[in-house]
Amino acid sequence: MPVISFANAKGGAGKTTAALLLATEIAARGQSVTIFDADPQKWISHWAGLPGRSENIEVVNQISAGSVTEQILDCSARSDYVIIDLEGTENLIVANALSVSDLVVVPIQGSSMDARGGAKILTLIGKLEKIVKHDIKHCVALTRTNPAVTTRSLKAVQEFLAVKGIDVLLTPIVERSAFRDMFEFGGGLDNQSSKQVSNLKKARQNAAMFAAELLERAQPTHARRWYHILKHAS
Ligand SMILES: Nc1ncnc2c1ncn2[C@@H]1O[C@H](COP(=O)(O)OP(=O)(O)OP(=O)(O)O)[C@@H](O)[C@H]1O
Ligand SMILES: [Mg+2]
Repeated sequence: MPVISFANAKGGAGKTTAALLLATEIAARGQSVTIFDADPQKWISHWAGLPGRSENIEVVNQISAGSVTEQILDCSARSDYVIIDLEGTENLIVANALSVSDLVVVPIQGSSMDARGGAKILTLIGKLEKIVKHDIKHCVALTRTNPAVTTRSLKAVQEFLAVKGIDVLLTPIVERSAFRDMFEFGGGLDNQSSKQVSNLKKARQNAAMFAAELLERAQPTHARRWYHILKHAS
């Protein structure tokens, strides 16, 4: 039922990778997920055509700004989770998707350009909250971090976020070839073999901790519960 969006106005921040990681982790636990592929590059739709996709995952890619809100709410009634992979820009689909999200995840690489793109989304969330008249829960996920060292630019980004009082996940998504390979060969981390993929065990641990932290934060809002109650009553 919860709707989780991935957004950053900066392209290449790691939205699609983080969205698919979360979806495959949820599916591996036996729960159903609908992914809205609103990324014009359609990486997740491409992934869905590769072998190894869990039956628990459905991908929707026919999305229009006028109907996206209704589509998301309807899917959230039948799936355990809805995950939305958004375009790296600000447009009406992004604004509409954010306004019905229970949790917005802003992936940020350790660079000030990514942090500025993330800040744009955080400002947009602030404006949307005034329109929808409820809080839109959000957090930052640091992505593509170096497993061995914390770079100067990552430290600068962490300080920037701390000063703004933004909720940052304790688990960053580390730079791992296993995460890239999902888009190349299909399936989730469970489909990969440690004989072919380096540091697979660490990648799996990372993905599991990332998913656990997010799922703890993602609860449907009161507004969503009322939507479903009224919809089922009508
Ligand atoms: N944790 C990671 N480990 C390894 N490679 C990664 C990781 N996260 C992202 N990448 C790589 O970085 C590139 C950009 O990632 P991704 O496509 O997920 O970003 P995006 O924010 O969705 O981009 P866009 O704004 O273009 O939609 C891709 O080539 C992806 O494979
Ligand atoms: Mg993307």
